[in-house]
Amino acid sequence: MADCAHLLLRGTLPTRKQRRDFQREVRGHRLVHEHLIRFFQGFNHDAHPMAILVSVVGALSAFYNDDHDYRDPAKRDLAGMRCVGKMATLAAYSYKTAHGQPIVYPRDDLNLAQNFMYMMFALPTRPYDLDPVACRCLEVILMLHADHEQNASTSTVRIAGSSQANPFACVAAGVASLWGPAHGGANEAVLAMLEEIGTVDRIPKCVARAKSKTDPFRLMGFGHRVYKQMDPRARLMRDMCHKLLDHLKIKDPLLDLAMELEKVALSDDYFISRKLYPNVDFYSGICFRALGIPREMFTVIFAVGRSVGWIAQWIEMAGEEVSRISRPRQMYEGAPERPFVPLSERR
Ligand code: CMC
Repeated sequence: MADCAHLLLRGTLPTRKQRRDFQREVRGHRLVHEHLIRFFQGFNHDAHPMAILVSVVGALSAFYNDDHDYRDPAKRDLAGMRCVGKMATLAAYSYKTAHGQPIVYPRDDLNLAQNFMYMMFALPTRPYDLDPVACRCLEVILMLHADHEQNASTSTVRIAGSSQANPFACVAAGVASLWGPAHGGANEAVLAMLEEIGTVDRIPKCVARAKSKTDPFRLMGFGHRVYKQMDPRARLMRDMCHKLLDHLKIKDPLLDLAMELEKVALSDDYFISRKLYPNVDFYSGICFRALGIPREMFTVIFAVGRSVGWIAQWIEMAGEEVSRISRPRQMYEGAPERPFVPLSERR
């Protein structure tokens, strides 16, 4: 992930020395202010970790308010490194809060994926062994989600940033936008859908619902605004899923169900004619499940990966010579001019 983050933030694959320096620097930003940790205690135990994440990422802007002069490349870079360093910590603390467990401080000797697994699953009462294949799987997931041009959340970060708002506030806006089931929330929705289908014989009913004009239900993890063929990330995710499950010796019936659902949908005229193929979210949930990551954390992990892209895009935008506030126009299609009726004369 260090290579990927360096490529996005600094524009090149790092040399070995640059890689070491970059890792040291990012790891140096993993801790969050102790006062921020108190924020976590204010949430109900059943708060969704995305709700917590959106709040605490936004709260970072109160700790790193700097002087707003992000025309200075060093200040932009520092904001970026802070963001990349702290996102996984905040995400893991969100998990711990939602589970009522004590937070686990980050470790400098671990890479991003290892450290994230450690902060999520380690407990003071027992040793925690990192599984290299599981950590690699998480790393691949983070890389596959790192950046993806102008998707809804990245555009949201850019729109927020175009007013020269604090970068952490912009990233919090991205987290909010990512949350919905049409975007990052789809991975959570895929698993819920597969669990609801339950058995292969119920697939036709689910496909029929997805095709129905009167039912708002969609096949989650299918379709993409840009890809009109199989999302290349989905293929990698499917391969990773098989590797991980083999390694962990897990036989997950949901994987068989997902593969059968893919087969049925891809031989159906409705999906063929609309060029609807599996997207990145279709198999990621099954990987997360095998990693022992609960469903409500799926989109949070997407946010950790995507935060590298968000902040890279923010750095690019904040460094532009001429900056213009984003201001989409709106075409009014409502009623024509109406007379104003004073309140006293209204019913
Ligand atoms: N299941 C059933 N029908 C679908 C689906 C689906 N998943 N996706 C699109 N359609 C149909 C839609 O009903 C429409 O049919 P018709 O032409 O008869 O009205 C046609 O395909 C075009 O749909 P659209 O809404 O114009 O497509 P879009 O490009 O606006 O939407 C999408 C893209 C990803 C929001 C949509 O495909 C969808 O809702 N998919 C399910 C949610 C999902 O998996 N989201 C993750 C996206 S990838 C990761 C990310 O970027 O976050």
